[in-house]
Amino acid sequence: MNIIIAPDAEQAVAQAAAIVAAEIHARARPVLGLATGRTMERLYALLVADHENAGLDFSTATSFNLDEYVGLPKEAPQSYHTYMHEHLFDRVNMRAGYGHLPNGTAPDLDAECAAYEELIRASGGIDLQLLGIGETGHIGFNEPPSAFDTRTRAVELDPVTRAQNAEMFGGDATAVPEYALTMGVGTILDAERLLLLAVGKGKADIIRKALLDPMTPDVSASAVRLHPDCTIILDDDAAAEWRAHKSE
Ligand code: F6R
Repeated sequence: MNIIIAPDAEQAVAQAAAIVAAEIHARARPVLGLATGRTMERLYALLVADHENAGLDFSTATSFNLDEYVGLPKEAPQSYHTYMHEHLFDRVNMRAGYGHLPNGTAPDLDAECAAYEELIRASGGIDLQLLGIGETGHIGFNEPPSAFDTRTRAVELDPVTRAQNAEMFGGDATAVPEYALTMGVGTILDAERLLLLAVGKGKADIIRKALLDPMTPDVSASAVRLHPDCTIILDDDAAAEWRAHKSE
């Protein structure tokens, strides 16, 4: 596990964006695992700027997002489908149809999850998986408890996560969908490289738990410690509790 601490959020995000850009440069056909959320908004803005100013080329890239709400139409402003189009897909030269998200309105959700796993396999697997961390310690929407061998599936969102994401739903946690589709912890661990990015004081406590407490399905982010090639980028605030306790 390679832990990088940047002095502030902007520099943390810039380092993460540089790793994603290097991966795109290095591969003839990069397969990226993508995340959504507030942390990633700035990262995608930096990738878009790199595309506009330095020609970062997405034309051979394929991507798979971690998760999507169940029951929310793709076109809804809060869907992760909309988020990805607004923040990345429509602003770079991604080929139409190569930016994949699980379909949370599929009539048969189990079949949709199995097909998503198959599509990842058929694309040769994910080269670099981008991860954020939620207040429950989730990666993707792997809420506690999520076994480390779980695959893409429908999950019930934790009330803490629904509160965390309420802002996009007019501040009303009960308006946040109750269920989501998410890659499993096992699906995530199959990626060749992991890149976890967390910034801000609000992430300090859960980062300490994920990185220092015993690994547990109750904090699915703790599973990244099992991965042979995992980079974690934190800003000073998110690293504070980890730093204070790491030598105990
Ligand atoms: C979203 C996702 C989540 C978020 C996490 C952090 O696709 O997979 O695990 O990365 O909830 O979200 P923010 O960045 O909004 O704090």
